[in-house]
Amino acid sequence: MPPHSQPQRVDAPLSASAIFLVVSVKDIADDDTAATVRNVVSSVNDTAKNVAFRDPSANLICTVGIGARVWEVVTKKLPKPSELHAFREVKGATHTAISTPGDLLFHIRAERRDLCFELERQLLDQLGDSVTVEDETVGFRYFDNRDLLGFIDGTANPVGADTQEAVLVAGTDVAGSSVDIVGGSYVVVQKYLHKMDSWKALKTEAQEEIIGRTKFDNVELDDAPPDVQKSHKSLNTIVDEATGAEHDILRDNMPFGSPGSKEYGTYFIGYTRHLWVIEQMLHNMFVGSPPGKHDRLLDYSTAVTGSVFFMPSLALLDEIGDD
Ligand code: HEM
Ligand SMILES: *[C@@H]1O[C@H](CO)[C@@H](O)[C@H](O)[C@H]1NC(C)=O
Repeated sequence: MPPHSQPQRVDAPLSASAIFLVVSVKDIADDDTAATVRNVVSSVNDTAKNVAFRDPSANLICTVGIGARVWEVVTKKLPKPSELHAFREVKGATHTAISTPGDLLFHIRAERRDLCFELERQLLDQLGDSVTVEDETVGFRYFDNRDLLGFIDGTANPVGADTQEAVLVAGTDVAGSSVDIVGGSYVVVQKYLHKMDSWKALKTEAQEEIIGRTKFDNVELDDAPPDVQKSHKSLNTIVDEATGAEHDILRDNMPFGSPGSKEYGTYFIGYTRHLWVIEQMLHNMFVGSPPGKHDRLLDYSTAVTGSVFFMPSLALLDEIGDD
């Protein structure tokens, strides 16, 4: 990978604490607003570095994504990544993946909640009146990386060099002036709320069939034969028709919630080199594969947000800041 396309730390590991902050730009046609947003976005790594330095062992990492609506203004007219568009609603017979507003995503991770908090505070201070907060979700590690449904989440993620291969746009993916987006990554986020009472009413074996893995020791179950109800795992295995290879994505899902207000959720975040791969997964989950056999996980999980962003390389972020 050439140095000019060094990626943001999209490959950072799951952390004890995370914040997913989605904001909308209030008036992107206003020059002052655009300048403020450009400054904050281009200097996010520096801002984070200042907070991170206060406890290096906490491993604070922040990545930033830019949505389709503001891409042109924020990047000063760099060509838009070919697949970048607003989240496209996926309407199944029973469940819908809704599309909700969001122009910027900040994905903040650290071993300490206070560092995440402090960085979010500074970023929102800098952005001031330029933005509206659409959603702020604070996630936490739950035991051995379990979601609140009780299953270990993130196991099938690519590791090592396979991660870059799965999540970063490569030189061979783009033509001409679009070379600026090499080293970047498409990101999809969805906030899910769980129906805990009905999930808990299921027997463990029924839950395991829905997920496609055993609950206690996280062993993969065999795929169901064609035309039988597929598990979450099988619906999200996307095999390339030409090469037979699997298209991996990188998920950094985190649980969030508040027992006092009976809120239990999973924040889904997927990084991918090809947006269509995650769109295909969403289609399989919500419409079903075969159509009609939707992901049973959705009978216990409701998507309440849905947005798409592109996370550019560090070089592109630098370019945005040069005036
Ligand atoms: C309520 C939200 C969700 C929960 C609780 C959840 C949970 C899980 C769990 C427990 C696994 C098995 C362990 C693992 O490999 O990580 C899994 C696998 C997976 N999930 Fe999800 N997930 C959710 C939403 C999504 C969405 C929206 C997508 C994609 C659009 C997705 C894509 C995947 C993929 C690609 C795998 C790995 C499949 C394989 O084994 O190759 N998940 N998920
Ligand atoms: C800033 O970017 C560099 C290069 O990707 C990375 O090593 C570092 O962890 C980043 N800092 C933060 C706080 O995200």
